[in-house]
Formats: sequence, C-alpha cells, structure tokens
Amino acid sequence: MSKIALITGITGQDGAYLSEYLIKKGYIVHGMKRRSSLFNTERIDHLYQDPHRENRNLILHYGDLTDSMNITRIIQEVQPDEIYNLAAMSHVKVSFDMPEYTANADGVGTLRILEAVRLLDLTKKTRIYQASTSELYGLVQEIPQKETTPFYPRSPYAVAKLYAYWITVNYREAYGMHASNGILFNHESPLRGETFVTRKITRAVSRIVLGMQEKTYLGNLSAQRDWGHAKDYIRAMHLILQQDTPSDYVIATGITTSVRDFIKKAFEEVGVEVEFKGEGVDEKGFISSIDTSKFGERVGQEYLESFQKRIGTEAVNVDPAYFRPTEVELLIGDPTKSKTVLGWEPKYDLPALVKDMMQSDVELMKKDAFLKDGGYRTMNYFE
Ligand code: NAP
Ligand code: GDD
Repeated sequence: MSKIALITGITGQDGAYLSEYLIKKGYIVHGMKRRSSLFNTERIDHLYQDPHRENRNLILHYGDLTDSMNITRIIQEVQPDEIYNLAAMSHVKVSFDMPEYTANADGVGTLRILEAVRLLDLTKKTRIYQASTSELYGLVQEIPQKETTPFYPRSPYAVAKLYAYWITVNYREAYGMHASNGILFNHESPLRGETFVTRKITRAVSRIVLGMQEKTYLGNLSAQRDWGHAKDYIRAMHLILQQDTPSDYVIATGITTSVRDFIKKAFEEVGVEVEFKGEGVDEKGFISSIDTSKFGERVGQEYLESFQKRIGTEAVNVDPAYFRPTEVELLIGDPTKSKTVLGWEPKYDLPALVKDMMQSDVELMKKDAFLKDGGYRTMNYFE
C-alpha cells in the first residue's frame, strides 16, 4: 500500500520539490492549491496527471488555510498518513503590510489543520510536519541558533509562525499527536520566489550581464543568512516524519554569508568582479573586472563586447524602501541534532547553490521575451 501525503503550499518552492521527492518514493501525493484567476501550478506542471486517468499519484484540491471547513473536508477525504503544512504568506517584508492576514494564514492556519486531525479522530494515523522557521530567532539570543535557543521574532510573519510553532508542540503534548516542527533556515533554488533576495539577485545579475538591465536596487546588504538548497531541506522534512518519536529540529548548513557577498558570488559565477564602495544608503557595487573566458563560457561570447563597456559603472544600489521596520541581522544555525538523530547531510554548499541558480536564470532570462522589453513583472513592489 502506498503512503498518502497531503501537502499544503504544494505550488510553492518547497511544495514542488517535496511532491516530486515523495512521488519518487512511491507516495500518493495530495496537494492543496488556492483558486487563482491564472494558472499557479508552474512549479509542479511536470508532475501533472490528467484527472480522467486512474491510479494517479498527484491529486490537487482547492483549499485555503483561512477556511477551516474546507481544510477539514480535504483531510477527511484524503485520510493522509502524513501532512506537510508548507502553506504560508511567506514574505517577511510583505507581512508588515498584511499583518492580520499573515496571522490568520500562518498562525491560526496551523491550528485549523491540527484541530481537523483531532476532530476527525486521525491523531494516531496522521503525522504532521509544521514549516517553522529560523525567523523565530529574530533578534538572536545565541550564536549559532539551535533547538534550545530562545525565540525573539521580529516581524508579523515571525510572530504568526511563533504561534504555529507552539500550537504544534501543544497538540503533541496534549493529545499525543505525531506533530513536529522543522526549524528551517533560509533555503533557495532556481524555483525560489522572485522577490526573495537570492533569486532577486540571480535574476538581476543574469539580466545585467545579458545587457537587459542596467542595475539592481536592494535593501540591507549587511544582513547575514545561513543559505542552503531547498532540495536538501525537503529531504529533512520527510526524515522528520519517519522518526518513531515526534520532535523539533533545526535544519541549516552552519555557515552564514552576507547579502553583499552573495551578490559578489553571483557575479563571480559568470566571470564578473564587483567591488563595493561607500556606506549605508550610499553604498554602491561597481563592475571592476571581467574574466573574459569564464564570461564567454557561462554567459555567451556574443554578449562580451557590449558588456566590456560596463567596467567601472554601477550595477548595485541601495534603496531604503527595501529596509524592514525591524530587521533580522544575523542567522546561523547549528544542525547537530538533525545530523545525529536524523542522519541528515546537505549535498549542496553555497557555491553549488549559486551555480545552480545562476545557470538556471541566465538561460531563463535569455528565453524571456517579456523581460527583454524592460518589464520587471513582480519587481514593481518594495519586496
Ligand atoms: P513559497 O514558495 O512562498 O510557497 C508558499 C505556498 O503557500 C504557495 O503554494 C502558496 O500558494 C501557498 N499559500 C499561501 N497562502 C496560502 C493560504 N492562505 N492558503 C493556502 N495556501 C497558501 O514558500 P516556500 O519557500 O516553499 O516555503 C514553504 C514553507 O516553509 C512556508 O510556510 C514558509 O513560511 C516556510 N519556510 C520557508 C523557508 C525558506 O527559506 N524557503 C525557511 C523556513 C520556513 P500560491 O502559489 O497560490 O501563492
Ligand atoms: N527580499 C529582499 N529584497 N530582501 C533583501 C533585499 C531586497 O531587495 N535587500 C536586502 N535584503 C535582505 C533582507 O532585509 C533580509 O535581511 C535578507 O536580505 C533575506 O531576505 P529574504 O530573502 O526576503 O528572506 P528572509 O530571510 O526575510 O525570509 C525567508 O527566510 C525565512 C527563514 O529564515 C523567507 O523564506 C521566510 O519565509 C523564511 O521563514
């Protein structure tokens, strides 16, 4: 008998990688998807199966974390062995603009799932993974951060996720449910949403070297994050639910890097050196040199001549509109527990992550006619 998984947030970065991973493991995967006026399944279209077909291993349901009756009905229909609650309004900056909705979806949404499992008498059958976050550490109380580090959330997103974390622990303790938190540090990939900083950078760097964009505007360049690859992190989610005993785990690489250094690494990946000068809002990134053979190989010889004229010009500016009212300056995780208990080891380091994202975005930008016309698509906002 195949195991049955229900993934909320299946159309997101992690949902896409996790569903592919579970299907390969022989699971039948059910996904909760929001109704949208446009298709929003781009990340999972390669897994799509015609609903007329029998024995499908990917089945989608319309649903929303703010609608408890709908969540309860889906769980009743699906009778899942495992629920991965990945759905969330996941952008920290946007959560300052939409605090109430964020609390409802990211905080109370988790309660709705736990309570549905309890009311449907599935507490012994269904295991639950809650997508908790390193944002809980916020104004960090300890370096590096581990499972016992006190939380200090710094955004409406993180405060909502704090509720979700503790309600998961509470249902585990009160009702004996197999409910666990994965405290995941930032994880990225070619599928990362375009307004998170790494993807914003790899898209912008690709467009700059292809001559489609002059410069990019960013916020706090000194923020430091522990960045891993989403493909490694979804394996940890699955491992957490395979344990006999539920528990909470930090998933991280143990290495932290500033936004400024991520920018440098993204340019280096295509043979371009960028030098930063100035401070605060006046800090600027200048193109200082080009490794012509690397550029030719990774971007294309045909783009080299015009890009050489860019030496000495600005490619990165700071715009305070991207600053957050309260910022998380430093995150660095200690994954000792997940390595020893789960046996989890990441396969990607930061250079491999940057390479994967840059290779994908250079090719994507070459193909994207809309962007060639100067459109920014999702970049109109200060995210
Ligand atoms: P993501 O790409 O932003 O995906 C979020 C998913 O949630 C999308 O499928 C989205 O649907 C769905 N969603 C949003 N609001 C919803 C609602 N009210 N009801 C139902 N579905 C809703 O996020 P991700 O990077 O894959 O992250 C997955 C989870 O891990 C999130 O909970 C995030 O907060 C958490 N997390 C992420 C990281 C990270 O670095 N990526 C680290 C720690 C924790 P649409 O496609 O329709 O928008
Ligand atoms: N988005 C964005 N845009 N961030 C910028 C920019 C910019 O132009 N410039 C600088 N940053 C800084 C942010 O201020 C933050 O300190 C850092 O880059 C990372 O920002 P994001 O990539 O937006 O991610 P995040 O760390 O705020 O949140 C992500 O990781 C969390 C785990 O720690 C999200 O995926 C959350 O859902 C997740 O919980």
